[in-house]
Amino acid sequence: MKPSILIARAVFPEVIARLEQHFEVETNQEDRIFSESELIEKSRGKDGVFSTLSERFTAPVLGALPQLKAVCNMAVGYNNIDVDAATAAGVMVTNTPDVLNETTADFAWALLMATARRVTESEHWLRAGKWQKWQYDGFLGADVHGSTLGIIGMGRIGQAIARRSTGFNMNVIYHNRSRLSEELEAKANNARYVGREELLRTADHVMLVMPYSPALHHTIGAAELAMMKPSATLVNIARGGIVDDAALIAALREQKIAAAGLDVFENEPAFDPGFLGLSNVVLTPHIASATGATRRAMANTAADNLIAALGGGQPANLLNPDVKKKA
Ligand code: GLV
Repeated sequence: MKPSILIARAVFPEVIARLEQHFEVETNQEDRIFSESELIEKSRGKDGVFSTLSERFTAPVLGALPQLKAVCNMAVGYNNIDVDAATAAGVMVTNTPDVLNETTADFAWALLMATARRVTESEHWLRAGKWQKWQYDGFLGADVHGSTLGIIGMGRIGQAIARRSTGFNMNVIYHNRSRLSEELEAKANNARYVGREELLRTADHVMLVMPYSPALHHTIGAAELAMMKPSATLVNIARGGIVDDAALIAALREQKIAAAGLDVFENEPAFDPGFLGLSNVVLTPHIASATGATRRAMANTAADNLIAALGGGQPANLLNPDVKKKA
């Protein structure tokens, strides 16, 4: 008998067809977001789940699913899964690194450019019929070329962002859990490792690219925003919760920093409506990896991981190699 799986959200039909060759598959092509009790009910009796950021596999959820052997997330981030609890419960956990690095780095640049050069704000103004004449001081923004880019979180995506800055003749500084090798720093436009406070105080544009962990909750709050230059921009493509959104709204309103570009929010898809009243913020709905090719690659990587995990092999992107696999 084939193992059985749940695909917890809508996904490309060809990926479902691939999974159906290996598994009994329950789909959710109507794309409902399951409550905790529905997630338990749908996952009960399944050997694996193809999950996304919206399914929270907490210790109580994992504890209610004794048959579950693998949760394969279609995302590089996996803060929706309690990996320690999964390891204790004998559940393999995987993510989809690498396939989204370049696409996500492209988007970080799109947000930076839109934020620093006021692209969406001026477009809204134009669409509202307010454009009567050219003005010498209309929508003055901040230069990107020749400026200092500060990247917090210099993993593979951070490095891909830094590489793109060479054409803009930028000075790159970064902060990370650990310093990169000299070779990787050289490839990342000669990025220079600095302390977090030095980065916040000296960067013209600050990009957040680090993975979320509870220790980093609100790591950018009122005190950190106050360290930044009043002319600085902040771009967050990391995760909601890393920035204290209420403090950011206050800083943007009081012009303590110039502008922010945000692809992620606390409690998304619900987000603080205070952002909507601000013109110096660019808001996008968590789409940094959203190109057809990359989302397909992510879905296929999650499928590969699930096929390996339930086929008795070692999935390429296993996050908890210490897990004691269930028979
Ligand atoms: C998207 O945010 C991801 O983690 O892949």
